[in-house]
This record gives sequence, C-alpha cells and structure tokens, in this order.
Amino acid sequence: MEYILNSIDETRGFAREFAKKLHAPVTVALHGDLGMGKSEIARTIIQTLRGENTVVPSPTFTIVQNYDGISHFDLYRINDVSELIEIGLPYAIANDITLIEWPDIAKDFLPKNTIHVYITEYGSGRKIIIPFAGEGVA
Ligand SMILES: Nc1ncnc2c1ncn2[C@@H]1O[C@H](COP(=O)(O)OP(=O)(O)OP(=O)(O)O)[C@@H](O)[C@H]1O
Ligand SMILES: [Mg+2]
Repeated sequence: MEYILNSIDETRGFAREFAKKLHAPVTVALHGDLGMGKSEIARTIIQTLRGENTVVPSPTFTIVQNYDGISHFDLYRINDVSELIEIGLPYAIANDITLIEWPDIAKDFLPKNTIHVYITEYGSGRKIIIPFAGEGVA
C-alpha cells in the first residue's frame, strides 16, 4: 500500500486508521530518516489505542517506553545486537504491539510477519509505503 500525506494532520489520520487494525502480538518497523515522522506515527497509534491524553515522549534517550501492552522502541542509540535482549525487545515482540523506530539493527529479531512502514519525503509532505501489511491490515 502507498499513501501520500500532505500535512501532519494527514499523517495523524493515517496513523489513527492504521492503529485500529493492530492486534497484539504484532511488530511495526518504522523506517525513515531523521524527522520523517516515525515518532509522530507511533504517538498517534498509542494515543488512538490508549487514550488521546496519553503522554508519548520520543524514546530516543530512554530507548523504550511501555504503554500497557504497547512497547515503543527507538534503536538509534543501540550499537550492539546483544543490547536488544537487555532492553526486552524479544519479550515485547512476543507479547505486545511493538513499534520500532530505527529497526535495522534488530532485523534478525523481527518476525516474518512484521509490518514494515517506509516513510520518505514527498514534496513538502510524506509518502508512506507498506509493502506487505499482513492479513487484514492496511
Ligand atoms: N505529512 C507531513 N507533511 C509535512 N510534515 C510532516 C508530515 N508528517 C509529519 N511531519 C513533520 O515531520 C516531523 C516528524 O518528526 P518526528 O519526531 O516524528 O520524526 P522521527 O522520524 O521520529 O525523527 P527521529 O529520527 O529524530 O526520531 C514533525 O516536525 C512533523 O510535523
Ligand atoms: Mg523519532
């Protein structure tokens, strides 16, 4: 699937609809450069499923934030695969709705049915590509 999102509001609209299709355990790998909207999409997914007032800080420094069965990871600062076990990635993948920013270092941990979301710049907006979203998703 492919989506053109011309504004931050459209990004949030996409993420709200996408969120409703997610049922644990499921892993979503959010690919995209700095500032593409990985955190914004994760935040909207979490707020859609856990309440609009849920505070969702970027996990750039904490690495992982948990929201009662939703785990939000940012692996930008992870340098060694062994750290992925210490931060609880396999446990999250097995149990939670797991949202992962900068997922490349975790590629050997990602289940086959991971939903890969690729975000790129498109004019002043964004383009989203989801090559295979799994049964019933997107
Ligand atoms: N469709 C869109 N059109 C224009 N701007 C957008 C769109 N969607 C999101 N943005 C903007 O892109 C930025 C996304 O920031 P965000 O922190 O979510 O990026 P990120 O991919 O998580 O970056 P990082 O790699 O630093 O974690 C925000 O400034 C947001 O307003
Ligand atoms: Mg981010």
